[in-house]
Amino acid sequence: MKTIVVYYSNKGSNKYLAEKISKSLVCEIEEIKPRLNIFLLFLMSIHLGNRSLKHDMKEFDKVILCGPIWMGKLIPPLRSFITTYFQQINKLIFVTCCGSTYAKKDEKFGHGLVFKEVGNILKDKCIYYQAFPIGLVLPDDKKEDTDAFMKTHLNDENFKGEIQERFESFIEKVNVIPV
Ligand SMILES: Cc1cc2nc3c(=O)[nH]c(=O)nc-3n(C[C@H](O)[C@H](O)[C@H](O)COP(=O)(O)O)c2cc1C
Repeated sequence: MKTIVVYYSNKGSNKYLAEKISKSLVCEIEEIKPRLNIFLLFLMSIHLGNRSLKHDMKEFDKVILCGPIWMGKLIPPLRSFITTYFQQINKLIFVTCCGSTYAKKDEKFGHGLVFKEVGNILKDKCIYYQAFPIGLVLPDDKKEDTDAFMKTHLNDENFKGEIQERFESFIEKVNVIPV
């Protein structure tokens, strides 16, 4: 079973997560590089597409797409990846390190809405979704604190406890999930 992790990250948490997934699964990894990597333009929905990827998506049974959520949206670099490579993608797993908690996933800025959007585009090509809210590495009184989660990035120091356990379950699931 051939798998590739494809990721976009602005501040590093999704890069960290993507690299951890690729190391655990011992699989290929590639970064999505927007032609114009200007965060403020993305927020205004101005996006000129991504540079072409080196890997051929057709060669992989599973693509694990990893990236952040901004303003409750499927962000332009990830949307562009999905639409550009739609035909080549066999099955896709969508993963995000985001701000929204599991409890608030279906609210306006929740990751649940983005999962639905990815599912609507990819239909049965999308076989699994997983969020790793940054609050998992914050103390209980800071889990919902926007300021705290904006300033927190995944690293070897904080990737332990609940997030580590959820990560291990995720890897087990990915290993057995049928395509
Ligand atoms: C402008 C902005 C808007 C954001 N909006 C959301 C949001 O609507 N929902 C959410 O779950 N997280 C939101 N976040 C949090 C990011 O998804 C989170 O910080 C993520 O881990 C950043 O990933 P990166 O370090 O790979 O860039 C937002 C972050 C920024 C900077």
